[in-house]
Amino acid sequence: VPVRIAGIPGSLREGSLNKKLINAASQIAKTISPTIEVEYVDIDSLPLINTDLVKNKKYPAEVEAFFNKLRSVDGILFASPEYNYSVAGPLKNAIDWASMERDVLKDKTAAIVSTGWDLGGARSQYHLRQIGIRPDIYFINSPEVFINENPPVFDSDGNLTDEDVRKKLKELLVSLNNFTLRLRPCRPFPWP
Ligand code: FNR
Repeated sequence: VPVRIAGIPGSLREGSLNKKLINAASQIAKTISPTIEVEYVDIDSLPLINTDLVKNKKYPAEVEAFFNKLRSVDGILFASPEYNYSVAGPLKNAIDWASMERDVLKDKTAAIVSTGWDLGGARSQYHLRQIGIRPDIYFINSPEVFINENPPVFDSDGNLTDEDVRKKLKELLVSLNNFTLRLRPCRPFPWP
């Protein structure tokens, strides 16, 4: 059974670097053995969190679909833009929704790639790790992958052209794959 990873970009804009990074990671994953699959998971349609939208444990349809997608994977690859030294609001919003049902995030493994200016989004990574404590997400510690938005690492067609970034993304996925396989026997069986 392949390791199944949800690739979640933390930015909503169409030309998002982080969306491109998830797409690149999906392609790179195909070159890794044992097998790992990175499926792009959209957070664009999630409403802003408001518990008035939850009636008797019934969530808005987009939120339910997001829960079920996450329930079906072993782990998460976050691609996080840094906003004001932290994670961007849309990503925090998605995690806040997901944290409302215990089985959605508990015992997921996770890895982070981030983007930003001078430090490549590093500060957002440490906030993201903190956010993962309460929902019980297990982040891999290395490698740490920080990507400066300049100079560009994608061409105008959205292809990853920077070989160093490609190598780092592959190392990140291999590490996530290995850690997920180690943790998997501890997860309840059958997996959802
Ligand atoms: C940013 N950006 C940014 N970068 C950084 O390194 N530190 C920061 O504190 C911030 N703050 C910030 C706030 C706001 C409101 C915006 C819009 C942008 C830059 C941002 O992280 C960078 O452009 C990302 O690459 C954007 O990601 P997407 O949208 O291309 O995925």
